[in-house]
Amino acid sequence: MTVLDPSGVMGGPTAARVASVLDWNFVRASLPRGERDKWIDILDFGASSKVGEGRVFTSVGKLERTASADRRKAIWLAAFSASLTASRRDGVDILELGACLGSGAVSLILGAQKQCRYVGLEGSPELARMAKDRIRRAAPGVPIDMRVGPFRDTLPEIVADDVRFDLVFLDGHHKGRILLEQWGQIRPRLNKGAWVVVDDIRWSGDMHAAWNKLVGEEGVLAFDLFRIGALYCGESTNPAEGKSRRVPLSLIA
Ligand SMILES: C[S@@+](CC[C@H](N)C(=O)[O-])C[C@H]1O[C@@H](n2cnc3c(N)ncnc32)[C@H](O)[C@@H]1O
Repeated sequence: MTVLDPSGVMGGPTAARVASVLDWNFVRASLPRGERDKWIDILDFGASSKVGEGRVFTSVGKLERTASADRRKAIWLAAFSASLTASRRDGVDILELGACLGSGAVSLILGAQKQCRYVGLEGSPELARMAKDRIRRAAPGVPIDMRVGPFRDTLPEIVADDVRFDLVFLDGHHKGRILLEQWGQIRPRLNKGAWVVVDDIRWSGDMHAAWNKLVGEEGVLAFDLFRIGALYCGESTNPAEGKSRRVPLSLIA
């Protein structure tokens, strides 16, 4: 296994992860304690739960345990956005596909020390509302553009505008074909040196195969963090020669 050289890209993801100072208790507390006992109606898009499409009545607490970024993921998310702040004088532009309860969003925003703008796409109206409220509580003043609806409608809307992103977190529709389609849509909208973080690259053989295709993309450096993968979209050559680099086991997401 090739272990990441911390002196690599932008100080290296490993270095960023080690230096990350995310206050996880604060992230958790930004979802008020009482909310976890509430039951809500959400839409299941059939690709994040391995259940078919339809409506699901579930508790917020269960959703937090099963579908939200946990501490390990959250620290990585914060590390990626933190690694960008020094080079983005006007702030970091973040796009997240699948806002859910806002755990990942708050971690990304705190990593950027709130010097950012956040665009979130979420299919379930109740989750979109909760995520937006949570971000407002945790990071007042950060501009939020939350789009509600299926990604197949909201993503084309977003990329049709003249926008550019520094950090994209793809964390919704866990199907290989969809992941590759989303990549094709966002790629022209990435600033040089952007991170694209892909969740659940080992969710299924199909997701892993799609991840391996992204690893071979021109101009991309890929990092395998086990549950998530990260693509650094920088130079026009691919020094990693189509292979993903790994981080030390103690740091996997
Ligand atoms: C795994 S959760 C996201 C967790 C969140 N990114 C975090 O870090 O805490 C996936 C979310 O994507 C949403 N989602 C899944 N497929 C979708 C689709 N096709 N269109 C819109 N939203 C979708 C789900 O409603 C769910 O809230």
